[in-house]
Amino acid sequence: MTTLLRMFLMFLVPILLSHVSADNACPKCGSTEVPYPLSTDGSCGNSRYRVYCNNGVLEFLSGGGFYYKILSINPSAYKLVISPPPIKKDTCYSSDFASEGLKLDESLPFNVSTHNTVMLLNCTDNILRSPLNCSSSSFCRLYEEEVEEASGCRNTLCCHYLKDSAMTSHMIRVRAGGCSAYTSVVDLKLGAPLDSWNYGIELQWVPPN
Ligand SMILES: *[C@@H]1O[C@H](CO)[C@@H](O)[C@H](O)[C@H]1NC(C)=O
Ligand SMILES: *[C@@H]1O[C@H](CO)[C@@H](O)[C@H](O)[C@H]1NC(C)=O
Ligand SMILES: *[C@@H]1O[C@H](CO)[C@@H](O)[C@H](O)[C@H]1NC(C)=O
Repeated sequence: MTTLLRMFLMFLVPILLSHVSADNACPKCGSTEVPYPLSTDGSCGNSRYRVYCNNGVLEFLSGGGFYYKILSINPSAYKLVISPPPIKKDTCYSSDFASEGLKLDESLPFNVSTHNTVMLLNCTDNILRSPLNCSSSSFCRLYEEEVEEASGCRNTLCCHYLKDSAMTSHMIRVRAGGCSAYTSVVDLKLGAPLDSWNYGIELQWVPPN
């Protein structure tokens, strides 16, 4: 091999490939578009923004090893919304309880945005020390009382809070001795009727360079 050819392969080919992949959106997953930089496999998107296409359903994998369904993606705002984990039937346990709720891998470019109202269900008194709204008018009361999925959580202590920038943006925690279930609503406004609530956990990503 000539030196020139070797240099071409070592330097130019990777540069050319990285330019191609910059606009290389992945194919649809089921009927869901997978916009750049999200990546369902090594051949498309940007591998730091890994998501999973499982049986035609686009999913996000947490640092705790739990898959969350992706409900919507807004690539120009660098945001996506994942589904809160289902509450196991006739209990008050979130299905990601084993991994202590949502945990994002801090080495990845995703965090929890500041648009989520988190409702914590079946809490112990320990939780009252933190800055939460656990009053009888908290949104979580309405949720427990009116939504079948949360019926197993009725008549226990519940609280809500807005996930703001003063809190860690890499987790929503449930655990034994704290709260055992949660849900989240994006952009919840005071007084918004229950049937207008937009259930989800909005995540944000740092755009690739
Ligand atoms: C509520 O949480 C406690 C632990 O804090 C647990 O023992 C109990 O089973 C939970 N209740 C329900 C209905 O799941
Ligand atoms: C708690 O939240 C409710 C809305 O769910 C609100 O009406 C009430 O004023 C809040 N209470 C406190 C102490 O912030
Ligand atoms: C999440 O990441 C974005 C993009 O880097 C950043 O602007 C934002 O401040 C972060 N949010 C929080 C709550 O840390």
